[in-house]
Amino acid sequence: MFMKSLIFSLSFLLIFFPPKHIFSQLLPISPPIIYSDTQGEWNLLHASIGISAMHMQLLHNNKVIIFDRTDFGPSNLSLPGGRCRYDPVDTVLQNDCTAHSILYDIGTNQYRPLTIQTDTWCSSGAVLPNGTLVQTGGFNDGDHVVRTFSPCIDDSCDWTEFPNYLSGRRWYATNQILPDGRVIIVGGRRQFSYEFFPRNPQASSSSSNSPSFDLRFLLDTRDYDENNLYPFLHLLPDGNLFIFANTRSIVFDYKQNRVIKEFPQIDGGDPRNYPSSGSSVLLPLDENISGAGAGIVEAEVMVCGGAPRWSYGQAVNKVFQRALSTCGRLVVVGHANPSWVMEDMPLPRVMGDMLILPTGDVIIINGAESGTSGWELGRDPATRPIIYRPSSEIVGQRYSIMAPSPRPRLYHSSAILLTDGRVLVGGSNPHVYYNFTDVMYPTDLSLESFSPPYLSAKYAAVRPKIVAVNETLGYGEKLTVSFTVSEYLSWREVSVRIILPSFTTHSFAMNQRMVVIKTMGVYREASGSYNVLGVGPSTAEIAPPGYYLLFVVHSGTPSSGVWVKIS
Ligand SMILES: *[C@@H]1O[C@H](CO)[C@@H](O)[C@H](O)[C@H]1NC(C)=O
Ligand SMILES: *[C@@H]1O[C@H](CO)[C@@H](O)[C@H](O)[C@H]1NC(C)=O
Ligand SMILES: *[C@@H]1O[C@H](CO)[C@@H](O)[C@H](O)[C@H]1NC(C)=O
Ligand SMILES: *[C@@H]1O[C@H](CO)[C@@H](O)[C@H](O)[C@H]1NC(C)=O
Ligand SMILES: *[C@@H]1O[C@H](CO)[C@@H](O)[C@H](O)[C@H]1NC(C)=O
Repeated sequence: MFMKSLIFSLSFLLIFFPPKHIFSQLLPISPPIIYSDTQGEWNLLHASIGISAMHMQLLHNNKVIIFDRTDFGPSNLSLPGGRCRYDPVDTVLQNDCTAHSILYDIGTNQYRPLTIQTDTWCSSGAVLPNGTLVQTGGFNDGDHVVRTFSPCIDDSCDWTEFPNYLSGRRWYATNQILPDGRVIIVGGRRQFSYEFFPRNPQASSSSSNSPSFDLRFLLDTRDYDENNLYPFLHLLPDGNLFIFANTRSIVFDYKQNRVIKEFPQIDGGDPRNYPSSGSSVLLPLDENISGAGAGIVEAEVMVCGGAPRWSYGQAVNKVFQRALSTCGRLVVVGHANPSWVMEDMPLPRVMGDMLILPTGDVIIINGAESGTSGWELGRDPATRPIIYRPSSEIVGQRYSIMAPSPRPRLYHSSAILLTDGRVLVGGSNPHVYYNFTDVMYPTDLSLESFSPPYLSAKYAAVRPKIVAVNETLGYGEKLTVSFTVSEYLSWREVSVRIILPSFTTHSFAMNQRMVVIKTMGVYREASGSYNVLGVGPSTAEIAPPGYYLLFVVHSGTPSSGVWVKIS
């Protein structure tokens, strides 16, 4: 019996955590066997939503705002009420009566068109503490525009545009929500500077008289292929910004416009930002470990994939380099002289999206195995997501490979986490226009969801269900989360986590962060439900104010998320 179970466990380990050399030998030849409950499940939500999902953001009313660009030509969705946009400088279609943005309702699986008047191509966004989405920049007539969208309970809300709001041309810039509720907008093509929303109130009285501040690091990291676009930004628990561009990274004090520290370059010397498009996450900030609470929370950044140096230029000349298959982890707060710790992914990937799942694991989804970002420059779609367990002790056991999507998701695809723990996947428009035929990878207007293995019905007995939680929470305030579960194990199996949903575009999930809440215990109510007692995040640097999704994870199985407003 013992031998049998030992053999079973060993073969289990080999199937799910094969040593790296087995991956590299077997995978390119034969695709993995698909077990729907261990490799996740794909579902087609819509064959066409009319537009290609280039940018996505989940809002706190469980609706997802999706938009692409306005100068592709007509989309496959008309604007209602005879609305049109007239743009005399649009090179494709001056009078456009189609929509380039939609609002998707998760609960009903319905969507409705929204109206954008100026070009949002390759732009950025962040959600304000009050739940309003702020979108910044774009291209052409849209590159200085800020647009907001405030969620509403009926179908009345739409975009509001603020022309000439930005001082710089923000095309391929990155945003981050700040502890004071402002948004910092960093970079953009040939913009070696940053600015804020709302605009810096001191701007007019400052010596430069400009609401924008120089950032030399962006100039220094620009190379021939411009591999410093969409810099990876993460707000650190000490209030500074981590900025990664090309191969280099810094800790930046945006208040003093001062570089505090520069880290070693990522090993290998290959670029990780657009158009070499790797991705990055701030790994979960853990306030439940001792030491946290005293204000010291360690922070670690992870960067995965990308393309070898000069890949973009080579792809333009039809030579498609194999993407990078390495990830690097760097302790950015809590270590005086950190160095990158490199790991191999089981598959190479460029243009992958990295999302933090409710369990604290990281999914790497979408993208290609060769080429780079840019029109027609991606090859060998990476259809199999991988899930990475940052907390797993054994390096070779951190990755598992998921079931392949039936659809390539190349340039201009995106992915976000949904309230119920699924991942919403859409987009892929590697062409200048909406080309549906006669091209290698036709424009994709479909919307899919990927259900990670934790959603499998086989975990139903241990899956917690949140029945009550504090709707609003202040810093360091006590919280109680009540949940029910059929088979309760022990409180050591229970964790409470909050996630700030991302604005995802171009393989980077802006603003994404997870905080593991400090918990003190679980007690059982007479009603049979369980109450977890915890303390809200300590500071706005750890968790900037706003709407978070709160999850209870029991025995590795997450509940559905519940919205909590932190202020
Ligand atoms: C465009 O929309 C129509 C329905 O409105 C649908 O039949 C068609 O397949 C869509 N085209 C694409 C390329 O998705
Ligand atoms: C949130 O704040 C912004 C900026 O001050 C404002 O424009 C917007 O109307 C507010 N939204 C809500 C829902 O109050
Ligand atoms: C893509 O669509 C545009 C606009 O409809 C058209 O001009 C162009 O020839 C198409 N490209 C290909 C490769 O079909
Ligand atoms: C959270 O909810 C619990 C239970 O209802 C309550 O005891 C506690 O005071 C609440 N905390 C805050 C900060 O309102
Ligand atoms: C949270 O911290 C407590 C106290 O240190 C510990 O007993 C518990 O196991 C921790 N929970 C998790 C999920 O790490």
